Amino acid sequence: MSLFLLTRTLPEDATEAALRADVQQGLGRNPKTLPPKWFYDAHGSELFEQITELPEYYPTRAEREILIDRADEIAAATGARTLVELGSGSSEKTRHLIDALAGLHTYVPVDVSESALTQAGHALVAERPGLNVHALIADFTARLVLPDTPGPRLVAFLGGTIGNLLPAERAEFLASVRALLSPGDALLLGTDLVKDEKVLVRAYDDAAGVTAAFNKNVLNVVNRELGADFDPGAFDHMALWDTGNEWIEMRLRSRTEQTVKIPALDLAVDFAAGEDLHTEISAKFRKGGIRAELAAAGMELTHWWTDGEGRFALSLSEAR
Ligand code: SAH
Ligand code: TRP
Repeated sequence: MSLFLLTRTLPEDATEAALRADVQQGLGRNPKTLPPKWFYDAHGSELFEQITELPEYYPTRAEREILIDRADEIAAATGARTLVELGSGSSEKTRHLIDALAGLHTYVPVDVSESALTQAGHALVAERPGLNVHALIADFTARLVLPDTPGPRLVAFLGGTIGNLLPAERAEFLASVRALLSPGDALLLGTDLVKDEKVLVRAYDDAAGVTAAFNKNVLNVVNRELGADFDPGAFDHMALWDTGNEWIEMRLRSRTEQTVKIPALDLAVDFAAGEDLHTEISAKFRKGGIRAELAAAGMELTHWWTDGEGRFALSLSEAR
């Protein structure tokens, strides 16, 4: 017998209120910003799945390679009975881990995308008799309350999604993850690594324009939810490598001088021609930096694995 449970930790209108507040604050800043979690409505989640299959977007394939090679080692090192996955999306790569964890009792996928959670959850319980899936619709940057399930607990955060947080947000996030770990529990973290600028930029500016569509989808979300009149065609997708910060910066550049109306906020926002709206960063890492950030949050890195080409890393850490 398998069990599928879906828990919403935020009421739907709280999501709406958070979007309003984020859009109001972000568009009032200089430079203008929109926070990334709003990329992932049903269409955004689908576009992200297409990104993972692009020839230029290597992180998914590199991380899958590591998971396939190391799933047995991860299982032996952790003996996890509960697997919590933050920002689980389609849970596609996670299947390798789920299969290797012989004593797994419950899988807890956590995501803001309800469509991704229900699709992945239903598929998993159908495929894996005996596995319980307790999905949480939740913001992983907020305080998480996890279901009461048997330990040891393994918290997985894959896809390099940690790179989408700013350094200060990352520190706060890692401290909150540390608070979820009891002795014997572990964190499995996927991080994309610093590499040749051309390879990085291509991964975030593909020839088919899927990443551009994904970046612009955030405008569609604001149009739909807040009645705004953004014209996605009036913005260009930009992916820039910031050498000092070692992150890719995603922006939407206004092609012309234009005014966007957002009725739900009673707001008219002026864009100059060539003005950038900052949408997301994707930070790239080095082993020493990761080890230090984990240590600062009270964790100790115990294992470090990369793919054959050294593009991406999975690390395992425990609470100190
Ligand atoms: N882990 C998957 C998906 C990565 S994309 C993979 O490796 O392919 C990032 C995922 O995190 C998306 O599914 C998105 O909906 C989710 N996400 C982004 N911000 C979030 C937040 N603040 N709280 C919870 N989930 C979030
Ligand atoms: N976690 C993914 C990454 O940083 C998210 C992502 C991929 C993304 N492509 C994107 C976010 C394009 C914004 C725009 O690699």
